[in-house]
Amino acid sequence: MSRTIIISNRLPTKVQRTAKGLTFQPSEGGLATGLGSIYQSGDNVWVGWPGLFVEDPAEEQHVTEQLQQDSMAPVFLTEAEIRDFYEGFSNSTLWPTFHYFSQYATYEQAHWEAYVAVNEKFCQAVLALAGPDDTIWVHDYQLLLLPEMLRRARPECTIGFFLHIPFPSYEMIRVLPWGAELLQGMLGADLIGFHTYSYMRHFLSAVSQMLGYSSQNGQIETPSRTVLVDAFPMGIDYQRYADAAASEAAQAHARTYGAAMHGARVVLSIDRLDYTKGISLRLRAFEELLHRYPKWHEQVSLLMIVVPSRDQVAQYAALKEEIDELAGRINAQYSTISWTPIHYFYRSLPFEELAALYRLADVALVTPVRDGMNLVAKEFVASKADQRGVLILSERAGAAQELSDALLINPTDTNQLVEAMHEALLMPEEEQVLRMTHMQTLVQQYNVFAWTELFLNRLTYSKIKQLTLS
Ligand code: UDP
Ligand code: G6P
Repeated sequence: MSRTIIISNRLPTKVQRTAKGLTFQPSEGGLATGLGSIYQSGDNVWVGWPGLFVEDPAEEQHVTEQLQQDSMAPVFLTEAEIRDFYEGFSNSTLWPTFHYFSQYATYEQAHWEAYVAVNEKFCQAVLALAGPDDTIWVHDYQLLLLPEMLRRARPECTIGFFLHIPFPSYEMIRVLPWGAELLQGMLGADLIGFHTYSYMRHFLSAVSQMLGYSSQNGQIETPSRTVLVDAFPMGIDYQRYADAAASEAAQAHARTYGAAMHGARVVLSIDRLDYTKGISLRLRAFEELLHRYPKWHEQVSLLMIVVPSRDQVAQYAALKEEIDELAGRINAQYSTISWTPIHYFYRSLPFEELAALYRLADVALVTPVRDGMNLVAKEFVASKADQRGVLILSERAGAAQELSDALLINPTDTNQLVEAMHEALLMPEEEQVLRMTHMQTLVQQYNVFAWTELFLNRLTYSKIKQLTLS
């Protein structure tokens, strides 16, 4: 029987070393949470890194056995690979470049070499596992070379590739010394998917300008094969969020959180710690709201969850300090005995508590300066059983293409952000319900199951088409 083999750098389970030994927790990030609901159907397997360095072979064996029980096959990285491939090329070269932060990008030959070597390591792991009829589905920017490596080893196999982050303008890609190799790597796939049409257009333009391959209707003619390219906006497991937010546990958590807020309205912000998420800009806008509209003092609190992420990369550590400092300063200036303007948590939360926060929030503030999709926006929408609540969403998140009933803002325009918060807090209930209902219909329909089916059907179609043409 044919299976789908999912491959991403990060597995949906992350293993951590604690005083009590190894723990197994769900991973954060849209890729892991989004696909987490679909990979366990049938005999599917997920290949990826469990998130920690393991030295002891017995420990490696234990982790492998544990993960195998949940249909995962770990690829272990050495300390040097974690530094040069993960923190280095993936998160200090590709991540900033693809999010238009080229001022943060480094260009190290050693990091590139580690990137090639780790993609090769993943290739060997997949080849050891995949049968000739299996469908191979590679995910995200850490593995851009993998499709081509697999293609060379198995010319006939079915390979899909999906990019979970933006694909930037050709002007950004041409800055990369290894841009052409990265594009060639992706073109090993039969089908390449992006969240939006604009990312897809950027990709087609880069391929045409850097490799000279033309395209028509999303089909690229390479010298050896035709590759299909399309937009597939990723969805969420809608029902899981709707059910969780309505559950007894979430209601109990929401009551506890609500009581701690002393009746203040809640503006919610949830992100991984990342400079792409616009967290400092958001804090400055909240400060300006309190300055401009004193009527919200004691009436509104910002509940901000920042999930630790990539803390060995210099910019992430610096951002943490900046956020700590800003939140501290604003609280010091505006707090009263009975009111804390910003409730700031630097940690990840269990799923039930997240669901409770989505349920509780009056306003969700999702204001990244760049974001491939942003699933937090969709999760908030799915959690609002009574359709009350307002989503403020950056026009530079992929999700803005679909969620046009949100209050769309430019995240660098502090004035617009302040006025959007003010408007959201004053929005009449009928308008909230109207906007939320529209968004729910959409998020419910284009959920992650529909997304997977669409992608995999299109992949099968592209393969059949190739075979009939050859
Ligand atoms: N998330 C989580 N634990 C937390 C906070 C967030 O698992 O404590 C999840 C959140 O529910 C969402 C994902 O992390 O599914 C973040 O995905 P998003 O697409 O918004 O951004 P990314 O982190 O992928 O850039
Ligand atoms: C984003 C990326 C994922 C990544 C996640 C968490 O969602 O698209 O590929 O897994 O962030 O980042 P991390 O570096 O912890 O894997």
